[in-house]
Amino acid sequence: MTAPSDTRLTLSHVMSAHDTNLMGTVHGGVVMKLVDDAAGVVAARYGQGAAVTAAMDEMVFVTPVRVGDVLTIKAQVNWAGRSSMEVGVRVESTRWDDLTPPVHVASAYLVMVALDAARRPRPVRPLTPSTPDEARRQREALIRREHRLARRRAIVDSRS
Ligand SMILES: CC(C)(COP(=O)(O)OP(=O)(O)OC[C@H]1O[C@@H](n2cnc3c(N)ncnc32)[C@H](O)[C@@H]1OP(=O)(O)O)[C@@H](O)C(=O)NCCC(=O)NCCS
Repeated sequence: MTAPSDTRLTLSHVMSAHDTNLMGTVHGGVVMKLVDDAAGVVAARYGQGAAVTAAMDEMVFVTPVRVGDVLTIKAQVNWAGRSSMEVGVRVESTRWDDLTPPVHVASAYLVMVALDAARRPRPVRPLTPSTPDEARRQREALIRREHRLARRRAIVDSRS
């Protein structure tokens, strides 16, 4: 049995001058890449093999990230279906030279799909929530999945 907490990953990265946009703060795409990297590792470990990003839900940037911030990306599987998984990611920042509490920078939910050698979706093992929080995340992940699939169906239907 695998619980969401067994799938947790934490990545930390110091933001440098290479990561900035024209305003001098960190480019949103840099943060998105780190989020996708973390979700990719979590999904590949849980799915025991290659996994690709099928979708990333709206990503809200709550606070700008500055050069010298240490970004911490926390990711875990919230829900697993047949071949797809929802990975929840939370991004926090702290200063590299100061012991201040972490600031919430961004959150995102990604749909990752396990693939076989022929790049076809491949089954993954079931996920078993072991705490009330994990059960809540699983319920909420299912609600998001229903919305994503309904939106995709509605768009396809509107074209026919
Ligand atoms: C993701 C991909 C493999 C899905 O292929 P597909 O032919 O649509 O396969 P399926 O319809 O069987 O879907 C596979 C699973 O993904 C889920 N899924 C696919 N697209 C989804 C979306 N937009 N939202 C939610 N779930 C989605 C399906 O519900 C299904 O879940 P389940 O097996 O747990 O029930 C395919 O679209 C792909 O290869 N996309 C490119 C991925 C990529 O290269 N990402 C890197 C970024 S460049």
